Amino acid sequence: MDKICVRGGRPLSGDIVIGGAKNASLPLMAAGMLTDERLTLTNVPVLADIATMTALIAQHGVAVESQGNDSRTLSIGGAITNTEAPYDIVRKMRASILVLGPLLARVGEARVSLPGGCAIGTRPIDLHLKGLEQMGAVIRLDAGYVNATAPSGLRGAAIVLPFASVGATENIVMAATLADGQTVLANAAREPEIGDLVACLISMGARIEGAGTDRLVIEGVTKLHAATHEIVADRIETATFACATAIAGGSVRLLGGRLEHLGAVVDIMGQAGVEITQDGNALVVRRLNGLHGVDVMTAPYPGFPTDVQAQFMALMAVAEGASMLTENIFENRFMHVPELTRMGANINVHGSSAIVRGVSRLSGAQVMATDLRASVSLILAGLAAHGETTVNRVYHLDRGYEAVERKLAACGADIERVAG
Ligand code: EPZ
Repeated sequence: MDKICVRGGRPLSGDIVIGGAKNASLPLMAAGMLTDERLTLTNVPVLADIATMTALIAQHGVAVESQGNDSRTLSIGGAITNTEAPYDIVRKMRASILVLGPLLARVGEARVSLPGGCAIGTRPIDLHLKGLEQMGAVIRLDAGYVNATAPSGLRGAAIVLPFASVGATENIVMAATLADGQTVLANAAREPEIGDLVACLISMGARIEGAGTDRLVIEGVTKLHAATHEIVADRIETATFACATAIAGGSVRLLGGRLEHLGAVVDIMGQAGVEITQDGNALVVRRLNGLHGVDVMTAPYPGFPTDVQAQFMALMAVAEGASMLTENIFENRFMHVPELTRMGANINVHGSSAIVRGVSRLSGAQVMATDLRASVSLILAGLAAHGETTVNRVYHLDRGYEAVERKLAACGADIERVAG
């Protein structure tokens, strides 16, 4: 297994290209199953999760082809010949559940393995299933699989999500595009990745109103057609490199970053002593003077993203004063704490909150990645640590970040990947 070694103490300067959003790419690829024509996606990031989603969609019979040798352009579409999403693929990537809505909408049946939990939580899918049942799906759980049918097709429904679930919103919206009649989805998630999915579906002929709001109205149509869609820039990667610049010091331009997609991150980083401004198609991130402790509570967009909590904690570990980070979205998203503590961070977890007391310097250590965002938070801590940090099990990192070590090295970090 590969490792990443970081020797801290060097400020960052230069440009970092932000890639297409992982969390937009996965639902968009599933959307390609809604038509027998071709959906062409551009600005696709090269990630392990994309390869997993490609394999999943292909085993349903739907062609997924990269154009020429450009793996950042995928063309998806065709007949569905297999309606089962097997456990050995779904267990590797929970987002596999996003084929459920398209399968039901397109062919009226699906047998999708229950995703099961992951390191950060139990990750239930009850909201996905309840919404689809309200649209007429008959769902039975059996032997660890969701067995779903829609014998007379899906019909529009008025659905209220008790929690603004990103995945449930995506599954219900995709299913509703081909349902008979109108679906009104209230308390829908408003993450930019949802807006990107809605924009793509509209370009395929779907009729959807309310993009960007928490109320989506979908008029079902009989068929969706070919389209080409450029995947939105990854706001979590953007926020991650903003935290990297803050923790290492210096100033970096994030090419493709969009201020309005960062939501509460901009103000929180400002309070911490880090300025983020839009300059054309780039975000300029600059650490002003010292870093200050800031309290944060994770929340659905436009609140502070749970996917940035681990990275921000690494920053708070070396800020002046104390901060309290409260994780309101997932029940077990503090696995980075014991690893940061091994590097000298002063962090105490009380239930869903972590109290971080800044220290003047972290010290490099051997640490273990446990999940995608925890992995990158350890690399960020290594940028500020005295000595060498070795992050093990970076396969977690490769699921959602493309060439982190190359992007940071190009901005002056002393970092390398060691094949293991
Ligand atoms: C998406 O996961 C993202 N993944 C996650 O990113 C992200 O952390 C999360 O949204 C929140 O923003 C992708 O987009 C592929 P949710 P998802 O449904 O859809 C509960 C990363 O690091 N819930 O909004 O699974 C659930 O338990 C990953 O890139 C139910 O109770 O998130 C959780 O507590 C991690 N029942 C909360 O809602 C349901 O049916 C948020 O889940 C669904 C969710």
